[in-house]
Amino acid sequence: MTRDARIGTIIAGLLCAAGLATAPGAFAQGSVERGAYLVNAVMACDTCHTPRGPNGGLDMTRRLSGGSQIFETPAYLVKGANITPDRETGIGAWSDADLKRTLTTGVRPDGSRLATAMPFAFYGGMTPGDLDSIVAFLRSLPPVNNKVQAPVYRLNTVVHAVPGTERPTDERDLADPVKRGAYLATLAHCQECHAGHVGDTPDFRGAPGKGGRVFSGPAGSVAAVNITSSKTAGIGDWTDEDIKRVLTTSKGRDGRQLAGPMARGAYFKNMTPGDMDALIAYLRRLPPLD
Ligand code: HEC
Ligand code: HEC
Repeated sequence: MTRDARIGTIIAGLLCAAGLATAPGAFAQGSVERGAYLVNAVMACDTCHTPRGPNGGLDMTRRLSGGSQIFETPAYLVKGANITPDRETGIGAWSDADLKRTLTTGVRPDGSRLATAMPFAFYGGMTPGDLDSIVAFLRSLPPVNNKVQAPVYRLNTVVHAVPGTERPTDERDLADPVKRGAYLATLAHCQECHAGHVGDTPDFRGAPGKGGRVFSGPAGSVAAVNITSSKTAGIGDWTDEDIKRVLTTSKGRDGRQLAGPMARGAYFKNMTPGDMDALIAYLRRLPPLD
């Protein structure tokens, strides 16, 4: 080990000992920094809410001012909303309470319901401190005036309750790695795609991690894989390093470029080592399903 690497290890050790590297709030509760960490490392709001430039990359100069991508199902046709503090076209005129209610229940201040493309059913499990942090972060963004095409709703929204999000988690619980990992997986809405599905209906309770939801796009169809601890069908025989590499690079274990819905490496690589280990600890506990 080089001297620098050794010092790095010592510093990491000290941070761990002080609980800083692994604590649920590596940043102060209700802070812009904690909100930025959640958005940049775990929740990836940008993938749906930041407009894309001509080459398909995110245009961060107009960050979170409304996506250019369309979400279309038989039930709706929507675009990621403008969530910058612009008063006219964004959420600048919303109160904190309005914003929290929308984020966690999918109901806008005017009573209308968001399409489920927005993962609010998962965000309902956010701790009060983290919810404050997300709001603080959104308020810190430069306002961008950008009117996003109005949503079209064709059928009533069906919201499937997500287990574990019935009430906000107690922040103190999150010192336990498996619980913190489950919490991070909820914020990253892994089960939205990886729970077993019967038709379009997710079986969150009976088949967590079983996989099978199919995503169709211009490039063809791809199914979310089994991420349970099954050694034959799932990731039970993967090493922790295998899982980390897949999550932080967007490349499959076999080296293939992962399809769009799973291409989150640019975000997950920003997770603290403690949070990444916690996420893996949670995945290891998913009962094997074949
Ligand atoms: C997988 C895509 C996706 C992700 C990830 C996502 N959103 Fe959304 N969000 C949407 C879509 C699509 C809409 C618009 C839904 C509609 O019009 O019915 C929306 C709507 C919203 C709204 C309502 C705004 C309005 O004017 O109606 C807020 C607030 C919001 N999102 C905040 C966030 C935040 C904060 C994050 C990250 C913590 C986030 N979203 C992550 C897709 C997403
Ligand atoms: C929006 C849907 C979606 C979300 C959210 C999602 N995944 Fe995936 N995931 C997929 C799809 C689709 C694939 C298959 C991609 C492919 O084969 O190209 C996949 C593949 C994987 C793989 C296997 C890679 C390989 O080498 O075969 C792992 C492991 C994985 N996801 C873990 C996770 C974890 C952990 C989370 C949450 C932190 C998560 N996923 C969130 C859709 C998603």
